[in-house]
Amino acid sequence: MNAEQISHIIRHRRTIKPKQFSDRPVEKAIVDEMLENANWAPTHGMTQPWRFTVYTGDARQRLAELLAETYKQITTPEEFKPNKYEGMSRNAMLAPVVIAIGMKRQQIEKIPELDELQAVACAVQNMHLTAAAHGLGAFWSTNVAAVSDQMREFIGLEPRDRALGLFYIGYPKCDWPESTRQSIDDKVRWVT
Ligand SMILES: Cc1cc2nc3c(=O)[nH]c(=O)nc-3n(C[C@H](O)[C@H](O)[C@H](O)COP(=O)(O)O)c2cc1C
Repeated sequence: MNAEQISHIIRHRRTIKPKQFSDRPVEKAIVDEMLENANWAPTHGMTQPWRFTVYTGDARQRLAELLAETYKQITTPEEFKPNKYEGMSRNAMLAPVVIAIGMKRQQIEKIPELDELQAVACAVQNMHLTAAAHGLGAFWSTNVAAVSDQMREFIGLEPRDRALGLFYIGYPKCDWPESTRQSIDDKVRWVT
C-alpha cells in the first residue's frame, strides 16, 4: 500500500467536461477497471445499489436525444436555457464513453434511501479516481434531465429507483486543470 500515491490521486482527480475531451478512444479495459472499482465501494447492508449503463459509439446519440427531449419537456419556457439544451445534445457525442448512474432500491427498503445514495456516490468517486490514475478526465453531470424519471426509465430502472446523473469520460486535450479548496481547518471541529 502506498499512502502517498493514493493522496496524490485524490488531490489530482479533476472534473473535465466533454468540450475539453480529445478524440482519443478510451480503452475498454480501463472502463472495466473503473466499473470493477466502483463495485468495491462501501455499502450499508451489502445492498450494492449502484447500477451503471455504459454508452459508447452510436448509442450515445440516442442518449443525447433523450436528454435534450426530456429537458425540453420538463422545463417551462421561462426555465428553458438554449445553451443547456445544446450542451445536452452535444456532450454525449464529445465523450467517447458516457456512464449513466443509477441507484437500485432494495426490495424490502430496510436500508435508508440516503445510505443507498451515499453508497452510489462512493462508487462514482472510485470510478473518478481510477479515471484520474489513467490520465482521464471525467464529469459527473446532474442536470434536471440527467436525474429525471425519463432518464430512470431509459436506463431500465423502476419507479422506486433513481437516475443519479451521467458520468462523461475522455482524455483531455487541454492541460490538466488546477483546482483549489478552502482550508480543511474551517470545516473540521475536533472534540477531545
Ligand atoms: C454529485 C455531483 C454532481 C455534480 N453535478 C455537476 C453538474 O451538474 N454540473 C457541473 O458543472 N458540475 C457538476 N459537478 C462537478 C463539480 O462542478 C466539480 O466537482 C467541482 O467544480 C470541483 O471540481 P473538481 O471535481 O475538479 O475537484 C458535480 C459534482 C458532484 C459530486
